[in-house]
Amino acid sequence: MGIVIKNGAVISPTGQIAQDVLVDGEIVVAMYLPGTAPTDGHRVIDATGKYVIPGGVDVHTHFELPFGGTEASDTFETGTRAAAWGGVTTICDMAVQRYGGNVYDSLTEWHHKAAENCAVDYSFSQIVGGIDDESLKAMKYLTEHEGITSFKLFMAYPGVFYSDDGQILKAMQTAAECGALIMMHAENGIAIDVLVAQALARGERDPKYHSITRPSDLEGEATHRAIVLSKVAGNVPLYIVHMSASEALDEVAEARHNGQNVFAETCPQYLYMTLEDHLAQPGFEGAKYVCSPPIRSKHDHRHHHADLWKGLRMNELAVVSTDHCPFCFKDQKELGIGDFSKIPNGMGGVEHRMELIYQGVVQGHLSLERWVETCSTNPAKMFGMYPKKGIIAPGSDADIVVWDPNARTEIGYGKKHHMNMDHSSWEGWVIDGKVDTVLSRGTVLIDNDQYLGRKGHGKFVRRGLSNYLV
Ligand code: URP
Ligand code: ZN
Ligand code: ZN
Repeated sequence: MGIVIKNGAVISPTGQIAQDVLVDGEIVVAMYLPGTAPTDGHRVIDATGKYVIPGGVDVHTHFELPFGGTEASDTFETGTRAAAWGGVTTICDMAVQRYGGNVYDSLTEWHHKAAENCAVDYSFSQIVGGIDDESLKAMKYLTEHEGITSFKLFMAYPGVFYSDDGQILKAMQTAAECGALIMMHAENGIAIDVLVAQALARGERDPKYHSITRPSDLEGEATHRAIVLSKVAGNVPLYIVHMSASEALDEVAEARHNGQNVFAETCPQYLYMTLEDHLAQPGFEGAKYVCSPPIRSKHDHRHHHADLWKGLRMNELAVVSTDHCPFCFKDQKELGIGDFSKIPNGMGGVEHRMELIYQGVVQGHLSLERWVETCSTNPAKMFGMYPKKGIIAPGSDADIVVWDPNARTEIGYGKKHHMNMDHSSWEGWVIDGKVDTVLSRGTVLIDNDQYLGRKGHGKFVRRGLSNYLV
């Protein structure tokens, strides 16, 4: 028995078409004029008045990440279940090699964490926190033999994940040889550490100083430097992660104008949150919103929110991810009471990206097509998973979300909240739309506000090289 999704509006980057979708096993097998798909012997999902979109692809999560003296609170089991609740059918988590550690061992560790635990399909990017001859060789091997074709480097967090410019150049040269994508955390961590020490010495200890000591110019500067290094390395594909600042966006726009293979993602928190309304909340509440790069001020001389939305429309930003890195308030965020530099960096959001960016459609920032493109199609292309993922078309995996534009979603702890956190970063948000039904490779995971999935359904996705390059 297959599944027929009838009478919906199928959305892709190129438009919306009224179509029926026939799923057989794990695959989309045919599309029909509305109301004409054969239904005999099939389960029928009525999508009248609803959107039918490819499942979300979130290419930046951190499940079970040891970081900031603790560990991100979502496991692969809880995190991928929350992803399913949010209409996300593929995640790409960050496997972590630290300085002195072995890349292969860290990848094996991440495979063990994820195997048999995921509700949706998953892959990994590899963090290389210690660039040396061995890790450079491993980058090549992973790209050519393991289906791991993207590597995250850090210009921030000295002493933790930081690489210097020489190490970055070497990693980029290796990526140029094997076709891998370099993902860059672009903040000048050396300068930031000076500002942090100076602030603490002045007695500036509240969460809001996390943002004040990480000025947007230092994100712009690092982005510029990463782009120059990628050019010197031979126009190696460079993908700037979690962009928060107009200054950084300017750099990417200019590089793209010059024909470089430079791309970027942003995350919902950088499109909606502000230092004043979130980080500067009374008491220690602002700790909930500590992440890096930080949430920016609404009084900056640049209008970061407006610029990032424009960047998404203009394709200077190709992707929205979440950088999902959840910590509970109790015992985790609380590690930084009295010293903002000890607050674990990260926010949870894997469940809410589709909802929050759809709200951008409702508010007129993006088209429906661009919502699907930035949250599903582009991430699948950028990370070598297209057209298996990121599109509803014959031959593609039947990863499908039926989206109800006439229903609402109330986000919040005790409301819609399935992440393993004791608070919601998006408390009180109400979205004009709702995840209705979710299919992952033809299996119904969410239906009628019920979770029907199971851990172990999700399979590892062996990725190819990016098919997004200019
Ligand atoms: O604050 C953040 N972004 N935490 C996760 C680690 C990273 O830099 O992506
Ligand atoms: Zn980062
Ligand atoms: Zn991250």
